[in-house]
Amino acid sequence: MRRTSATTHRAALGLALGVLAPVALSACGNGKTDPDLVAGKQLFVQKCGACHQLDRADTKGVSGPDLDEAFRQALADGMGRNSIEGMVAEQIRHPARLGEGQRGKGEVVMPADLVEGESVTDVAAYVGQVVAKGGEDTGLLAEAVKKAGAGKPVAAKDGKLVIPADPTGQLAYQAASATAPAGPIEVESPNESGTPHDIVIDGVGKGEVVQNGGISKFNGTLDAGKTYTFYCSVPGHRQAGMEGKVTVK
Ligand code: HEC
Repeated sequence: MRRTSATTHRAALGLALGVLAPVALSACGNGKTDPDLVAGKQLFVQKCGACHQLDRADTKGVSGPDLDEAFRQALADGMGRNSIEGMVAEQIRHPARLGEGQRGKGEVVMPADLVEGESVTDVAAYVGQVVAKGGEDTGLLAEAVKKAGAGKPVAAKDGKLVIPADPTGQLAYQAASATAPAGPIEVESPNESGTPHDIVIDGVGKGEVVQNGGISKFNGTLDAGKTYTFYCSVPGHRQAGMEGKVTVK
């Protein structure tokens, strides 16, 4: 992953210096309002965090490069945060141009236009401000996103166990632990977010991958006295923390 980032990053740097400077200049002169960093952080968590690690946003995706890692060296070499902002905005608008070197290896590709219009600037400004910075967000930014997975344990009711995915797109379920009786069970995981997820319990069942209001579900049987692990099988999501325990009582 480290090498992938560095390669992408060098391509991005060339592009930023060659193409982005004039764009950035004209954007300054047209009297636009300052970017909304709170909205930028919220959108980053919703739209980008499932694939990218960014410590300040507490996102843990692993399908794309770790962004702190990707820009740390450039910052150390004296690149300004405004230039990084420009590069991030360019990556959002034209991911293909920066990703050319990584194509055709069967890896995840970053979709274009995950956010649009002024939101591009908001997200890029937030990332530019906090990337590789250490410490924690403060003030309004600290409260911009509710921490995922902090919900209470859930209990099965009427033969059904419902464990929703985090609605903001973070890599977590709304509960990390659950209880259920032994016997037949219907497991459901509604997912309001745009980040694809499923729910799986090895040896019991596996739901479909869903997003945008879909419900991943399966029927299975739980054995008395056992503790099972439920998790999301979308690559990278379980490693980022999308799992929990079901205790059978
Ligand atoms: C589906 C996964 C996925 C999502 C969602 C995603 N990215 Fe990416 N991103 C990638 C991958 C894979 C790469 C590296 C290859 C490429 O450029 O396509 C990448 C590369 C990048 C880079 C370049 C990093 C470097 O090493 O130079 C930046 C910056 C970036 N993404 C920002 C974002 C932002 C901001 C969002 C949200 C608007 C986002 N990404 C959403 C997968 C994703």
